[in-house]
Amino acid sequence: MILIIGATGQLGGQIARQMLQDRQDVRILVRPNSPYQPLVEAGAQPVLGDLKDPLSLAPALAGIDTVITTATAGQRGGDDTIERVDLAGNQSLIDAAAQAGVRQFIFVSTIASDPNSPVPIFRAKGAAEARLRESGIGYTILQANGFMDVWIPLIVGLPLQQQRPVVVIGEGRRKHTFVAMQDVASFAVKAVGHSAAHNQTIVIGGPQAVSWQDILAAFETVVEGPIPVETRTPGEQLPGLPPVVSENMAYLDTFDSPIDMGAATQTFGIKLTPLEAWIRSYLVSMDA
Ligand SMILES: NC(=O)c1ccc[n+]([C@@H]2O[C@H](COP(=O)([O-])OP(=O)(O)OC[C@H]3O[C@@H](n4cnc5c(N)ncnc54)[C@H](OP(=O)(O)O)[C@@H]3O)[C@@H](O)[C@H]2O)c1
Repeated sequence: MILIIGATGQLGGQIARQMLQDRQDVRILVRPNSPYQPLVEAGAQPVLGDLKDPLSLAPALAGIDTVITTATAGQRGGDDTIERVDLAGNQSLIDAAAQAGVRQFIFVSTIASDPNSPVPIFRAKGAAEARLRESGIGYTILQANGFMDVWIPLIVGLPLQQQRPVVVIGEGRRKHTFVAMQDVASFAVKAVGHSAAHNQTIVIGGPQAVSWQDILAAFETVVEGPIPVETRTPGEQLPGLPPVVSENMAYLDTFDSPIDMGAATQTFGIKLTPLEAWIRSYLVSMDA
């Protein structure tokens, strides 16, 4: 049986639904106030627990072969801090999984993970990766680049919906292999029990490296019209978004993140979603 932690989130939800469609036995660790009922109706077995409560983890892990965690404090707030969830919570989960005899632990991380990073979330991801590699459990670390589904709606989709100019921090010419969330979900699903995923760190990006200028040009092709754009200098804030988004966008303007996905896509049989196809389905979902 597979235990998913984070199934009420965006990526974990996609992983859980793909697995339930494949008729896999899926258990989900959920909090009482999270919207997990649709997954139960789709066949998942819920177990109440919380990464901040180490004692709640052993019952959820009983009889589990594979753990997949996408959980993060990122969007949650309140008691769910990066320190308590992404750092201490992941460490408790890894220790409890080792104790329970779990055979494979699939951890969704980021290409920026680094135990010495000045950025707390990247530092926590790096620490969890290190703990997992030392745990003795068969591990698969998925180091994903930025998700199209998170970044593009924030920077381009929201302003388009609100009929205001898109605001780009910096020149927007640095190229990043943004990846569709459904493709990251596919890697997690295909990694289960796959020999090529055993004790591996797999870097995941999209099919092409694109800049904000490229993304805006692709939108203009799809909507068949010009998109008004304003620029800000690093340190300035994007209107209507939390400061962390502006900081991250300024950071993205300092490096490129090309990733050659040829070998990984072939090994796991995954066809990556091209940017323009992602934009078309995003715009359809906006209209729905
Ligand atoms: N955004 C990007 O561009 C990007 C890039 C690379 C990697 N990633 C990584 O991708 C992963 C998935 O992101 P996402 O967008 O799917 O996140 P999300 O939608 O914010 O989902 C977070 C999930 O974590 C769960 N969670 C939070 N605190 C918890 C706790 N204390 N105990 C148990 N569960 C807890 C949430 O459950 P509740 O519903 O109960 O709150 C929710 O299911 C994250 O690990 C993120 O760091 C993101």
